[in-house]
Amino acid sequence: MKLFLFLLILLLSACAQLEQYPEGKKLYVKHCSGCHGKNGEGLQLLIPPLSGAEIFIAAGPNAACWITKGMKGKIIVKGIEFENAMPPIQHLSNIEIANILNYSLNSWGNKHKFITPEEIKSIIKNCQ
Ligand code: HEC
Repeated sequence: MKLFLFLLILLLSACAQLEQYPEGKKLYVKHCSGCHGKNGEGLQLLIPPLSGAEIFIAAGPNAACWITKGMKGKIIVKGIEFENAMPPIQHLSNIEIANILNYSLNSWGNKHKFITPEEIKSIIKNCQ
């Protein structure tokens, strides 16, 4: 029994380490997944995916401006044209935005280097 518990704890802690950005995941689910989907898959021709989205990965921390200012107009994501509008989300802190971006830029096959709240702060000052 003791050995079983020990192995269980070992397994659980290994799983916990696999979850890289738990806070970012919570915030993503709360603020983004309603539109972009739990796995960043988007919604048909209405909402672009975040998984494998070239413009998202290229924007990296600059995507903070799309979150705080919103986004509209024609864009092409994974070869598909979208022309819709994303409403601005203004009440998020720099830390929360960094968490959301680190989670979504390192999930569903996406890869990006770590983004700090300080980077987000200076980017947001210069949003168009
Ligand atoms: C109300 C729905 C909605 C919510 C909530 C929303 N988005 Fe969007 N998002 C959109 C739409 C629609 C577009 C495309 C806008 C256009 O066509 O110009 C978009 C575009 C984007 C893009 C650029 C296109 C792409 O696929 O890479 C990124 C990145 C993005 N959103 C990230 C987020 C993140 C992160 C959140 C949560 C903080 C979020 N969005 C919340 C609807 C939403």
